[in-house]
Amino acid sequence: MEDKFLAAMQRRFACKRFLQKSIPQEEIEVILEYARLSPSSFGMEPWRLLVVTDQKIKEELQPLCWNQKQITTCSHLVVIKADSAVVQNREYIAKMFARRGLSPEATKAYIDRYFAFLQKQDIDCWVQKQCYIAAANMMTGAAYRGIDSCPIEGFEKEKVEEYLQLHNQSVALMVAFGYCAMERPPKKRLQRDEIVEFR
Ligand SMILES: Cc1cc2nc3c(=O)[nH]c(=O)nc-3n(C[C@H](O)[C@H](O)[C@H](O)COP(=O)(O)O)c2cc1C
Repeated sequence: MEDKFLAAMQRRFACKRFLQKSIPQEEIEVILEYARLSPSSFGMEPWRLLVVTDQKIKEELQPLCWNQKQITTCSHLVVIKADSAVVQNREYIAKMFARRGLSPEATKAYIDRYFAFLQKQDIDCWVQKQCYIAAANMMTGAAYRGIDSCPIEGFEKEKVEEYLQLHNQSVALMVAFGYCAMERPPKKRLQRDEIVEFR
């Protein structure tokens, strides 16, 4: 059986330089849909996506992002913002749990369990973990559609947040999308037996 998902996994790589070619709007919408449909712990969907296409903004961001060329050469820079406030907001939590259609008692028990869980978490870190799931899905999905990407953690977080004027949100990571302008390097990975164990 042809495995198109595996082919996309093999195709995706961290592209450092993109062609000056825009991704069509309908393609970007599908990539954003991959993020929207991603799973999240307790179904909290704590990611918020800021899509930057404005070249001036990209140029101003670049020095705050280790001067990485992906920032200015990409077609779309998706800044994945982590919303730690919303996951603690009672109204938002009630809305998210109400979607499950459980009885009021079951909903209350679930929300109690959620708060007990939350208490044990580093909330910023927990929210950011969810953002990475959305990022991974966007990147593999993009590769499936012939679009290249680069995940970007190399940036000065406070400076980027200040520049983008994020108030209650923080930047988890960014993903640059575009069409590759470089040779694709061979995949370097540990061997299967170095990482997998069955019991
Ligand atoms: C969360 C995350 C952050 C990353 N940040 C950067 C980055 O700032 N700049 C960069 O060039 N690559 C970045 N990378 C790419 C990794 O270096 C790359 O995925 C890894 O070396 C494996 O190579 P491949 O993705 O090309 O297969 C990042 C990857 C991840 C998952």
